[in-house]
Amino acid sequence: MALKAGIGRERLDGERRVAATPETVKQLVGLGLDLEIESGAGAASGHSDDDYRAAGAAVVQALDLGTLDIYCHVRPMDPTTAGTLQRGAVTVGLGSPSSELPTVRALAAGGITSFALELVPRISRAQSMDALTSQALVAGYRCVLEAAMRLPRFFPLYMTAAGTIPPARVLVLGAGVAGLQAIGTAKRLGARVSANDIRPASADEVASMGGTFIKLDLETAEASGGYARELSADRGALQRALLAPHVAQADVLITTAAVPGRRAPLLVSREMVQGMRPGSVVIDLAAESGGNVEGSIPGQDIPVPTGDGQGTVTLVGIKDPASAMPADASRLYAKNVANLLALMTREGVVSPDFSDEVVAGACLTHDGAIRHAPTAEALAALSPGSEGAL
Ligand code: NAI
Repeated sequence: MALKAGIGRERLDGERRVAATPETVKQLVGLGLDLEIESGAGAASGHSDDDYRAAGAAVVQALDLGTLDIYCHVRPMDPTTAGTLQRGAVTVGLGSPSSELPTVRALAAGGITSFALELVPRISRAQSMDALTSQALVAGYRCVLEAAMRLPRFFPLYMTAAGTIPPARVLVLGAGVAGLQAIGTAKRLGARVSANDIRPASADEVASMGGTFIKLDLETAEASGGYARELSADRGALQRALLAPHVAQADVLITTAAVPGRRAPLLVSREMVQGMRPGSVVIDLAAESGGNVEGSIPGQDIPVPTGDGQGTVTLVGIKDPASAMPADASRLYAKNVANLLALMTREGVVSPDFSDEVVAGACLTHDGAIRHAPTAEALAALSPGSEGAL
């Protein structure tokens, strides 16, 4: 009998993505799996139940989690869902292991082989399974549109009979996947774009997207795997002081800086926001992970009075940016999920090969153990007293 893979409706309020599209259903059926999808799961992404049936899936009113061999999801599971799966089941989706410890424990206790897409190694061979990258691309694009819709002026240069309108100045802080996409999108809209990052490779990357790199008199900070390192407190303060004049000149400021496993670095103080011109827009893409901009709140627009008392700056804390574009976000995400499953599936059998660094790296729990060392350490560090709080 073929293994049964299930895809549910996402339960979290506001989550509009889905973990499989009709295209990936075909791919998974081609691998020899039986597919079951909950009715309406793809509706927000533009896929009807009939689209899934035509691709080869069975549509059910509610997934019976306890009967699934494979469960694909977008948002991290809650502990109850994890506890309902049958022993030996394989799960693929976002896991947020550092913030979802109770779920991790339930997955380990239940003998689930879970894969967290955030843990997929950032190596070339794994790019097609890299959901951080695919969703950051959507987020980077989306945040520029959010800025453009709030800015009381054009992005591009206009030379008209009634006068010349200069292009908007967009400053992007943090030029990783999302930041580079933001630079490219703002550039395509005609803005004059500059950017800063603390990784040495970023200067060329910014230039390749058409942005001007702002070089600060600050040492670069790169850790292993091409990621940034956290700056010390005084280096962080120096960076803010050096950035202040650039922030003051921007019509739009977009911040995307992150350091893996840490709170987002604070790059912009309230005074820096107050130093901008009235009508300017600040988009904090890191709002959900602590914020790059002082005072930003996920999902909220906050008017910040400018220092000259002449108006306000709109400070936008971005929330769920990828979910705001569910069709293309799901198209990419579902491919990431299917490609990781394909890597582990031969003739309808899912058998993870832990000698493969992609499989081993992405695996969160297997056979009762937590395989991701930092998560295992975080759980072990909990005192017996605090465990009850999980
Ligand atoms: P991220 O989301 O962790 O961070 C975003 C950006 O913030 C990074 O570019 C980082 O350098 C920057 N940043 C951190 N602290 C900062 C500070 N104080 N000031 C200014 N900028 C700061 O990173 P993301 O976007 O996930 O990727 C980072 C890098 O990882 C990429 O540029 C690349 O080198 C590597 N990567 C490799 C991939 C692959 O080979 N498959 C795929 C994607 C990324």
